[in-house]
Amino acid sequence: PIPVIIDCDTGVDDALALLFAVRHPGLDLRAVTCVAGNTDVDGVVRNTLTVLEQAGAPDIPVARGAARPLIEPARSAQHVHGADGMGDLGLPAPSRAPAPVDAVTLLHREILASPRPVTLIPTAPLTNIALLLRTHPEVTGNIERIVFMGGAVATGNATPVAEFNVWHDPEAAAVLLTAGVPITMYGLDVFTRVVVPGADVRRLRASAEPGTRLAGELLAHRPSAPEPDGDDPAGGLGDAGAVCAVADPAGLTTRLLPVEVSLAPGPTRGQTVVDRRPRPGESEIHEGTREQALVDVGLDVDVDRYVKLYLDTVERP
Ligand code: BDR
Ligand code: CA
Repeated sequence: PIPVIIDCDTGVDDALALLFAVRHPGLDLRAVTCVAGNTDVDGVVRNTLTVLEQAGAPDIPVARGAARPLIEPARSAQHVHGADGMGDLGLPAPSRAPAPVDAVTLLHREILASPRPVTLIPTAPLTNIALLLRTHPEVTGNIERIVFMGGAVATGNATPVAEFNVWHDPEAAAVLLTAGVPITMYGLDVFTRVVVPGADVRRLRASAEPGTRLAGELLAHRPSAPEPDGDDPAGGLGDAGAVCAVADPAGLTTRLLPVEVSLAPGPTRGQTVVDRRPRPGESEIHEGTREQALVDVGLDVDVDRYVKLYLDTVERP
């Protein structure tokens, strides 16, 4: 299996991502680190520990990370993810505490200890990852690649042009993009497209297995537009799609393009500026400048393939 570490802000769709990573036989989830984003970092830690317990994976190390972005003030998205940051589903409190080390220390330790290079999957603001790269730059020697949920080629969500995870901590995102390891951007352009049909959501919610049932409840908290025939609404996979892209890269169509984060104050702050201008021959792609890294940008996704992959994985006995 591919060794992976998820850095998240659990978060309804981060929880969907954790459930999938725990159950996919091709992935070896070695650690989970937490950062402020959808809710405050202590809430993220609590939600993460609970989800891992419900998924039957209570031994995966979990560490608490940054309580706020590098420069921006602390803020939360509880209006999207509920007061507890996870849809107010009334989940039980976790029965264990997080690891007695901070997220950067756990990331450093687990990356260097892995017998094979690790794939990092950030599904949250990139504060922990930026701190890791600046504190322990040698980790890049044992990172296979970083597949992050964040950014947008076209339309934003936090602002007209900026996606939440990048907008929340743009400086950290800029550090990530110039990390010098292969990076895949699973941005809003593909993120919003992968939705599980209402009939499948209903079946998951009726499951007797706690992890499968939780996936159904979470999907029901991410409804897409109401179904015309009055059926249950479809539920977006969100962050879980980025983990699908690691388990099954062939489902995501990417192109290596220069990407730069706008750090300027004002209406473009947090935008991922993706240079899609045609070039005379794809092989003559720009080198990329210091600020403008070459990133494998997700441009298209095989929706049916990822929905099937997700369902097959979380319904696995
Ligand atoms: C991202 O923001 C968060 O609210 C989601 O969990 C996802 O990671 C989407 O912009
Ligand atoms: Ca997230």
